[in-house]
Amino acid sequence: MKKFLTSVLLCTTLLGAGTLRADNILLSTKNSSLLVTADKGKAPLFQYFGPSLASIDDVFNSGAAFNDPVYPQFGVQCSRETAIQATHNDGSMSLELVVESVSREQRDGGEVTAIATKDKYYPFYVTVYYKTYPDNDVIETWTEIRHLEKKPVTLYRFASAFLPVRRGDNWLTHFHGPWGAEAYLYEEPLTDGMRIIKDKDGVRNTHSSCPSFMITLDGRPDEQTGGVIGGTLAWSGNYRIAIDNDNTHTTRIFAGINEDQSQYVLEPKEVFTTPVFAFTYSNEGKGGVSRNFHRWARLHRISHGTAQRDILLNSWEGVSMKVNQEVMDQMMSDFSGLGGEMFVMDDGWFGDKYPRNDGSSSLGDWVVCKEKLPKGIEGLIASAKEKGLKFGIWIEPEMTNSRSELFEKHPDWVIQQPHREMYKGRGGTQLVLDLSNPEVQEFVYGVVDNLMTAHPEIAYIKWDANMSLFNYGSTYLPRDKQSHLYIEYHRGMEKVLERIRAKYPDLVMQACASGGGRINYGFMPYFDEFWTSDNTDAMQRIFIQWGVSNFFPAVAMASHVSVDVNYQTGRRTPLKLRFDVAMSGRMGMELQPAHMTDEDKAFARRAIADYKKIRPVVQQGDLYRLISPFDKSGYASLMYVTPEKERAAYFVYKMEQYHNMPTPAFKMAGLDPQKTYLVKELTVVGKPIPQDGKQFTGAFLMETGLDFTVGGEHASRVLELKEVK
Ligand code: GLA
Repeated sequence: MKKFLTSVLLCTTLLGAGTLRADNILLSTKNSSLLVTADKGKAPLFQYFGPSLASIDDVFNSGAAFNDPVYPQFGVQCSRETAIQATHNDGSMSLELVVESVSREQRDGGEVTAIATKDKYYPFYVTVYYKTYPDNDVIETWTEIRHLEKKPVTLYRFASAFLPVRRGDNWLTHFHGPWGAEAYLYEEPLTDGMRIIKDKDGVRNTHSSCPSFMITLDGRPDEQTGGVIGGTLAWSGNYRIAIDNDNTHTTRIFAGINEDQSQYVLEPKEVFTTPVFAFTYSNEGKGGVSRNFHRWARLHRISHGTAQRDILLNSWEGVSMKVNQEVMDQMMSDFSGLGGEMFVMDDGWFGDKYPRNDGSSSLGDWVVCKEKLPKGIEGLIASAKEKGLKFGIWIEPEMTNSRSELFEKHPDWVIQQPHREMYKGRGGTQLVLDLSNPEVQEFVYGVVDNLMTAHPEIAYIKWDANMSLFNYGSTYLPRDKQSHLYIEYHRGMEKVLERIRAKYPDLVMQACASGGGRINYGFMPYFDEFWTSDNTDAMQRIFIQWGVSNFFPAVAMASHVSVDVNYQTGRRTPLKLRFDVAMSGRMGMELQPAHMTDEDKAFARRAIADYKKIRPVVQQGDLYRLISPFDKSGYASLMYVTPEKERAAYFVYKMEQYHNMPTPAFKMAGLDPQKTYLVKELTVVGKPIPQDGKQFTGAFLMETGLDFTVGGEHASRVLELKEVK
């Protein structure tokens, strides 16, 4: 019996020699299939994930079926890595999960398939969920764990997902980097043994490895071609992604919360829900995987993902904490004159008993510093309005300093442990509030709620987090649940963010965490964007943004033009390069405009106007990465194309310059070969490229490309392409 399946979800078919009947569950996205066997009373089996299947029999007949447990558990099978390990109250460490039922339903724009399993002996239940969307190729998966045993069960492993990949010449693409150099790209063949990508910061989680990766199915990673699977864990806390190659025909991937120091005491009836792990397959190489994630993110995973972002000026690199009414007024006036749309006052505006003048005080005291801002926030909002700008403000609500009124009142609210002196962070005084504590959650919610209630015109909040979780311990959590802190911190945060979003759905929020410490999909449902890095050096941003763009769309990638000489690297770069790099993301500025020359201001005005022309293409278009800066060819280039392929924006950067250096023909991608495009150069300084104002077919631009000189080291070009009808 051979069944051809396109949209059939549940079907019965014959396995192997035709003696076993099995309920096979086929999940289909536009271009991929996932196949699971779920026989009642038997272990559910993961059979296949990859290109769309015409027939599920092909999987079984070809020997490609994995026949691996959907959610491998420790107990009977002991020698392999596991997704779950639980110790029952009678001391038994074993689980044996079998299918109870399978269901599916429509939920929030997608279809959710639930495979409910139960232990053969204990009243212990695990439901594995898969969610597919009709409009993209990303599948979300997560699990719910609960039990009805008489006493608590301790969970030692609780992955979000298990994903087997057929072994071949598999290469791993992943991203790693510290503060100021986030998301550096690493690619390596997957050799035998275990590869772990993890984080243990406690508060932020992308100043180390990023919880996202790609694996090629056969051969070296390429931007445009080849079968690639990508995965990303939607969690803002500690994570662990383990990729296990143990000499079988399968590479086994486990992704979830990092269980180290986090064993979880699960009470009877309590439901433990793991974070979502999202994954996708593309046969268009790494670029295809990125585009799948971007589309999914804009439509389903980022706050206001399809809304246009404003061009903003942030005060931080311009004046640091030296904010006051006059300076803010002047910055707003200048920025408004450049064509800006929003002004964001960064750190330094608050503190009554302890005015915030440096990093050593005031976090937690979220009242305006009257000395600096006698007219209060309302004075600033009035001034912004007058200048035709929206107004935004910086907060760091999860934190306090030991020099603050908040700490004096509530010393028990900070994360701490008995018998030890507290380790303190920034300014020698910073401490992290204990978000597992509902009183603290209320306080953190109140920081936003009070601001918004008093000043409903606040349009934007930059939410910062500048410390890791030190002094592990909670005065709120009971003795036997101290190990829940890493998890409860982030659950507490989610509760706060849910409430904020429910009450202030239109507020634009930026996730900042000492720069790019929170570029993860656990946070993004509540945030519109992230601060990509504290490093605003355009040259280094080309690398950082390239890395981040592998999983996150430009609409969420805050990218600001800052001052020359750059504060972080001391490098000098032309203003044009700084604009051209910022324009490939959500562009903004972060400098004191009063220090700009008239010539620079005139250029900035022009560049902002040019960005407005291509903003919808950059922020909502499909990304094609063309020449990688990591290939060290001396160039980097990328482009965005609208889904209808009638408009595009192309960027090329000259990374270095030496005598007799080869110049590539600048080829494009993602265009419609049949269409004719008019090429127009933007942000021109000096002479435009010879092709400016000329027309080319998409086929020519993609196959042959354009020959032009970018310029010397740190030069750049931005082109706008429009279909000629
Ligand atoms: C962090 C952020 C910066 C800035 C400062 C303010 O470092 O990443 O952008 O907001 O805090 O103190």
